[in-house]
Amino acid sequence: METPSDALTPARRRAHLRRMFDRRVQSEWNRYSGEPRRVLHRTLRERFLRTHLHRVSGRVLELGPGPGRFTPVLREATRGRVVAVDLSVASLRSARRRVGLRSDPVPVDWIEGAAEHLPLVSRSFDAVVALGYIVCFAGPDGPALLREIARVTRRHGTVVLDFSSPVSATQEFFRVAVAGRLLPRVLRRPGYYFVDRVLEEGFQPCAPERWGNFEFRFYTVPEAHEALRRAGFRVRDTMSVAPITAHDNRIAASARRSERTWESLLRVEERAGRRSGTLETGHGFVVAAVRN
Ligand SMILES: C[S@@+](CC[C@H](N)C(=O)[O-])C[C@H]1O[C@@H](n2cnc3c(N)ncnc32)[C@H](O)[C@@H]1O
Repeated sequence: METPSDALTPARRRAHLRRMFDRRVQSEWNRYSGEPRRVLHRTLRERFLRTHLHRVSGRVLELGPGPGRFTPVLREATRGRVVAVDLSVASLRSARRRVGLRSDPVPVDWIEGAAEHLPLVSRSFDAVVALGYIVCFAGPDGPALLREIARVTRRHGTVVLDFSSPVSATQEFFRVAVAGRLLPRVLRRPGYYFVDRVLEEGFQPCAPERWGNFEFRFYTVPEAHEALRRAGFRVRDTMSVAPITAHDNRIAASARRSERTWESLLRVEERAGRRSGTLETGHGFVVAAVRN
């Protein structure tokens, strides 16, 4: 994909992300708590992580831990060491505090920095995890970020990432717009609000007055697979996150009333999420891949 002419420079994009995430520490934490559908999105990501990290014994790198939502799962998975790199100091501080509250022998090193330029030795990690659409937030520099991940990953090492697809992002945008009674405004001028551009080009420029609060590159599943292949990875597993229930809280709320029905919903979602026809309709999709 060519770099769009209205894309930011990498340095400006990262400065914008740093400011934005410094202000959003609590809302990033809330993203996966409260409403049952949010808990479902989180639990499905955690289970996917556990599935693919269960044989990791050495060092694990987490890119963009934010407030540390998934860091405990990484610590559980390894007996080695976790290194966490984030642009946002406020997020790192929050993650460090939360992680410090749990007793766990696995140490975590916190580094303020950019995933595109890691101050880390080549081939020094057994696994790299980048959840929270880190590759998408890199806009046109997603391929460079994946090459940097490949540089620090050992041969046969595992990576787990998530991506946001054009269709699921449009679903989510419309859901949020309905909740704020703004959908008619969007549907009167979908082009103005980048709906066409997201669906056709997979790109949203940074234009806050048009609700493009940050630059973002959306990926279809074949695009994500191709980007990983080019960076030197072999895809092992891909799963849409909650294709059945992603945007409907009532189903998740009903299932959450008992452990048995909740587990059953998780399994249904995991089976449905691996069917090729559903891959771009959930709350993003997760990919596990292995370094060549
Ligand atoms: C959407 S939050 C995700 C947090 C957490 N991983 C999760 O999924 O809940 C994205 C985090 O990644 C960080 N981030 C985004 N792009 C980054 C980059 N290129 N390098 C390092 N950190 C980045 C942000 O500062 C923010 O804390």
